Amino acid sequence: MLRKIAIAAVAALSLSGGAGLAAGAGGHVEKVDFSFKGPFGAYDQNQLQRGLQVYTEVCAACHGLRYVPLRTLADEGGPNMPEDQVRAYANQFEIFDAELDDFRARVETDHFPMSNLSNAPDLSLMAKARAGFSGPYGSGINQLINGIGGPEYIYSLLLGFTGEEKTEAGVTLYENTAYPGQWLAMGPVLFEDQLEFADGSSNSMEAVAEDVAAFLMWTAEPKMMARKQTGLVAVLFLSVLTVLLYLTNKRIWMPVKRKEKNA
Ligand code: HEC
Repeated sequence: MLRKIAIAAVAALSLSGGAGLAAGAGGHVEKVDFSFKGPFGAYDQNQLQRGLQVYTEVCAACHGLRYVPLRTLADEGGPNMPEDQVRAYANQFEIFDAELDDFRARVETDHFPMSNLSNAPDLSLMAKARAGFSGPYGSGINQLINGIGGPEYIYSLLLGFTGEEKTEAGVTLYENTAYPGQWLAMGPVLFEDQLEFADGSSNSMEAVAEDVAAFLMWTAEPKMMARKQTGLVAVLFLSVLTVLLYLTNKRIWMPVKRKEKNA
């Protein structure tokens, strides 16, 4: 009986895991050991702060984060930055205020700016919009084990440039091993020793790509820690309830079963 339930549960899980996510057509995506992996994984607050720096110094030249409120940079479970730092960070961006009919500095309650470059997509939700791993068709077992692979895809994309480029209809395209279509309109943006981290952490291209990918996972799923905690409590609660119900059921039917046996 218990075995049957276990088999059914595993089957249901593997069938539902990731079904419906487009299988990335062939791009090569590396596995990365992010700190937020697994049921007990958590964001590394220092890594998120470094990722914010990479985003600000490199990606923000083209990409926006329009759905992310600046105040969430102070969130516990997120970058957890002090309020005054968040305000100073917000102040460096301008926004057009219709009430003032003029530009003013952004404050915490405003969002990050939109993309500067019209063909650069907004990155707020990118880590959830892309799937790096896909299983055999329909099963998604690979995704169940490795996760969906959005941040891994971003990491691999940033490191996947081959150096080849071509011009098509006036647009320069760059070859990339992670991009499903092989050629995209964004060129290599990361270089060795491009930036310095205040915490003295590695600034190799791999480390920088991992930091910004983790940061973009946080922008796409800022409440991941709270979700995992709730999930854990729910599973514990249901486990206890299952045992209690099993014992109650046994106790209720005990007299009937005993009678049957004796009959
Ligand atoms: C010089 C401008 C520029 C910079 C800087 C830049 N990008 Fe891009 N990025 C683009 C453009 C343009 C596209 C759209 C490419 C296309 O659709 O062919 C793009 C696309 C993307 C995509 C989506 C790829 C897909 O699957 O559709 C991701 C993810 C991305 N960029 C991440 C980053 C990150 C992270 C950084 C910073 C480390 C960054 N970009 C810096 C211009 C830029």
